[in-house]
Amino acid sequence: MVNIGVLISGNGTNLQAIIDGIDKGIINGRIKVVISNRKDAYGLTRASKANIESIYLDPKECDAITYDRKILHELKKRDVDLVVLAGYLRILSKKFIEEYKNRIINIHPSLIPSFCGKGYYGDRVHSAVLEYGVKYTGATVHFVDEGTDTGPIILQEVVKIDDHDTVDTLKEKVLEVEHKLLVQAIELFCQNKLSIKGRLVRIRSEENEKSID
Ligand code: GRF
Repeated sequence: MVNIGVLISGNGTNLQAIIDGIDKGIINGRIKVVISNRKDAYGLTRASKANIESIYLDPKECDAITYDRKILHELKKRDVDLVVLAGYLRILSKKFIEEYKNRIINIHPSLIPSFCGKGYYGDRVHSAVLEYGVKYTGATVHFVDEGTDTGPIILQEVVKIDDHDTVDTLKEKVLEVEHKLLVQAIELFCQNKLSIKGRLVRIRSEENEKSID
């Protein structure tokens, strides 16, 4: 059984999707802790309602390196194997990434490498998408490396943009896909079906099991 730690900063609908995925038996894992850098994150309430330990760590109390060290302590104390960034708005330190190399998953509301990187989060992603006039956007689940939204891509799915779409309607459409992809990616991780070679993530299946070392 994979122990999962979830980091949040806001509403926590992606966290809720993981909770529901576990309850439905889709994800063969358990959430050991939810940690937020924002006291008012509704995701903390979602965790409590699901009887999951939730912690608010105030980032103003220390510098970024110490803050990450505190989070790492809470994760290691609970033998967390997989860290999921579910709407978590802080950049992780190099040390954190190394501690959990290829065991940190992030969900981003666009088709990386478009509309991602520094400053691209939440509604700003969707307004940039609408402004540019692309015909498709989507969601991406990826492993986290030391860059911002630059790690090896696990799953992506497109969302068609209609002429009447607004930031709010687009956000809703993309969020639905985010929830689906995040649950799928976590389940694949829990089944040890994700293999990484450089930037390429491949999904092991019974047939090609032999072909991937
Ligand atoms: C989502 O769009 C997610 O892709 C982004 O943060 C937003 C908030 O998600 N990373 P949530 O409802 O707090 O899970």
